[in-house]
Amino acid sequence: MMTALDGVVMELQDCAFPLLQEVIPTADPNVAFEDIDAAILVGAMPRKQGMERKDLLKANAKIFVVQGKALDEKAKKTVKVLVVGNPANTNCMITQRSAPSIPASNFSCLTRLDMNRAKSQIASKAGTSVEKVKNVIIWGNHSSTQYPDVNHGTVVLPDGESSIRAALKDDNWLNGDFIKTVQKRGAAIIAARKLSSAMSAAKAICDHMRDWWFGTEARKLICLYTLLGIFFGEFVSMGVVSDGSYGIPEGIVYSYPVTIKDQKWEIVQGLTIDDFSREKMDATAKELLEEKESCDSFMQE
Ligand code: LMR
Repeated sequence: MMTALDGVVMELQDCAFPLLQEVIPTADPNVAFEDIDAAILVGAMPRKQGMERKDLLKANAKIFVVQGKALDEKAKKTVKVLVVGNPANTNCMITQRSAPSIPASNFSCLTRLDMNRAKSQIASKAGTSVEKVKNVIIWGNHSSTQYPDVNHGTVVLPDGESSIRAALKDDNWLNGDFIKTVQKRGAAIIAARKLSSAMSAAKAICDHMRDWWFGTEARKLICLYTLLGIFFGEFVSMGVVSDGSYGIPEGIVYSYPVTIKDQKWEIVQGLTIDDFSREKMDATAKELLEEKESCDSFMQE
């Protein structure tokens, strides 16, 4: 891939980024991760024809164990790692477990792309722009089992701010086609482009890393969470190592709503979960547990 990488370096130079001082193109993770503050792990092995999910997990586990070990040895202990390559949640879990000297909270996987997709769907349905839509949550796996949840979200329309459900008055769509569209959006893009998402994924990576660095509080309004009467800042979704919040098994990398301050994320607590949401949150957790068990079995081989 070094020839392709040379092309990327030329493009980076040609972007004339004022903050870009040097590029070190390398295929050696020990060189790439030396003393770094941030790592965005984009590459993974895509599923090939005839490949079982387990084979895919196995091929990727090998890649991410190497990256995790190199991060452990070479990166700063404060490094922030974002895993993008699929299966992103489980790849992130493997990387994190291969880097025991770095705090687990420094590892995350990308579900901001799914959150952006969900916000865009809601904005378009409401006839408004995306920045008017807040607090849509992505729970679980970056896969077709993920659960895009609007129950705590709001939208600002000309007559004021209200919950998404009250504004759209279309629970059938919200509980049906909306969820399916977001769950299958990655596949729809691959079918159309014959390539995976690129521009939207890059934008989501920027959103994720910017919020991790600068926080969700500073630039966002405080909104009143009406049902509980609790104040929350705007929250964003990211895949993080589960601490058991919301009854999700500990240790898997699960997408949660988080707020971020001083470069530390915290899972938003106290959200009410109805039966519909519970079932969907558990289904996506089950898929992640199966991925974890599959990895555990072949990593012991
Ligand atoms: C996406 O959500 O666009 C990608 O993760 C899809 C994929 O499998 O590359």
